[in-house]
Amino acid sequence: MDTKLYTIILAAGEGKRMKSDIPKVFHPIGGLPMIEYILRRAIDLPSDKVIVVVGIGKEIIMDYVAKRYEDAIFVHQDKQLGTADAVRSASQELSELEGDVLILNGDVPLIKHVLIKDFYEQYKASKASLGFITSTLDNPEGYGRVIKKAGKFKIVEENDADDKVKKVKEINAGIYLASCKLLLKALERVKPSEVTGEYYLTDIISILQSMKKKVMNYHTDDADQVLGVNNRKALAHSESILNQRKLNRLMASGVTIFDPGTTYIEQDVVIGKDSIVYPNSFLMNGTKIGKRCIIWNGTIIKDSKINDGVEIKPYSVIEQSIVGKDAIVGPFARLRPETVLDENVRIGNFVEVKKSSIGKGSKVNHLSYIGDATIGSRVNVGAGTITCNYDGFRKNPTVIEDEAFIGSDTALVAPVRVGRGAIIGAASAITKDVPPGALGIERSEQRTIEGYAMKRKSKLGGR
Ligand code: UD1
Ligand code: CA
Repeated sequence: MDTKLYTIILAAGEGKRMKSDIPKVFHPIGGLPMIEYILRRAIDLPSDKVIVVVGIGKEIIMDYVAKRYEDAIFVHQDKQLGTADAVRSASQELSELEGDVLILNGDVPLIKHVLIKDFYEQYKASKASLGFITSTLDNPEGYGRVIKKAGKFKIVEENDADDKVKKVKEINAGIYLASCKLLLKALERVKPSEVTGEYYLTDIISILQSMKKKVMNYHTDDADQVLGVNNRKALAHSESILNQRKLNRLMASGVTIFDPGTTYIEQDVVIGKDSIVYPNSFLMNGTKIGKRCIIWNGTIIKDSKINDGVEIKPYSVIEQSIVGKDAIVGPFARLRPETVLDENVRIGNFVEVKKSSIGKGSKVNHLSYIGDATIGSRVNVGAGTITCNYDGFRKNPTVIEDEAFIGSDTALVAPVRVGRGAIIGAASAITKDVPPGALGIERSEQRTIEGYAMKRKSKLGGR
């Protein structure tokens, strides 16, 4: 690619039809703000410069974009006077450019790299001054309609369209390539719409043609890619398209998705081959799952690493945790942030683990809370064991060394340490360290009163 290419992302609008306090391009799809997808397209192309036009909600957008791509340039559109005005806000930056500009609406997140690249190549080959993408939709409502007459194009916006124009199914996608110099010239001539008072970027198409410049049109049959997200319904629709694309990629790479209709996997999740994901699972960004894992129904996993051969049984919730090879977790388990489970660990039903590490082959199988604990290898933690980590002021640590055996219903009052191989008698409240190999038991002796039940019955039952 010989000439330079700048990309402008239009992201200053409020998105009124979203009825939201969040700027439209910041609404998440597939676990990432809409603008992330547009930004990726701009970076992948590659663009020599990426200019983002910001206005409504600019702080959060600038903060996000700058963190993702430090070379991004921001230009400010103080009043949202329309898409032509938005591009005009970047005039200063553009006036320095000899080359082409790609303009991307910030609310067309489903467009793929391949399509933009193909558009760019055809635009270059055509030697046109401007190119724009169109598609044909069954329901074109809300989009600018493409009117072709004697080889000339005109875009009519929904608000300005009469009934005849509204029937036109060919729409403008909101993605343009133009020679920078001519774009700036055409922008100067855009007049506000008589209906809405807005400056429409789409007017540059007829303006350039009236200047006898060549305009090319790139038509795509894949209407999904040009979906403009203007309202919550389109947001949900784009969510489902992105999700299906993700599931298709995973299946193509050797992951079994039991029911693609009810499985939700965010865009950046990684899953190794021969893993199986069952229905109603929600796997969120930041999650990496190894090979041969089984993720049962209703599981939610976020920001976590699940190593090879792990089985997550139904209805488990896992966040910011690491699960070691061949471990089994759940059903109904909760792993909270900073949980690290080593190989072959078993975490059973109704067990909550927080900020704790559990060593190889250890088991916490039933009804327990493990918080701020370091548990060694081959430890057995009995049913109902609780680490009392919080004294009302501080979080205190519990240490359980290798091969210790914690009887059921034990309260480990932290800070406390149970030595290697030690045994804790069931139902103890352990407040002092137990040395290696010792028995720790804290429980009043059992009393047995012979014949008590019969005596009570004759006393009370006699009344
Ligand atoms: C726009 C097109 C329409 C096309 C559709 C495709 C115009 C006039 N119309 O309509 O032909 O079919 O996209 O999805 O361009 N923006 C600003 N500043 C503004 C106004 C908008 O930055 O003053 C940004 C918005 O944040 C958004 C993008 O430009 O990312 C498009 O604006 P939007 O209002 O959604 O345009 P549409 O009505 O969808
Ligand atoms: Ca739009």
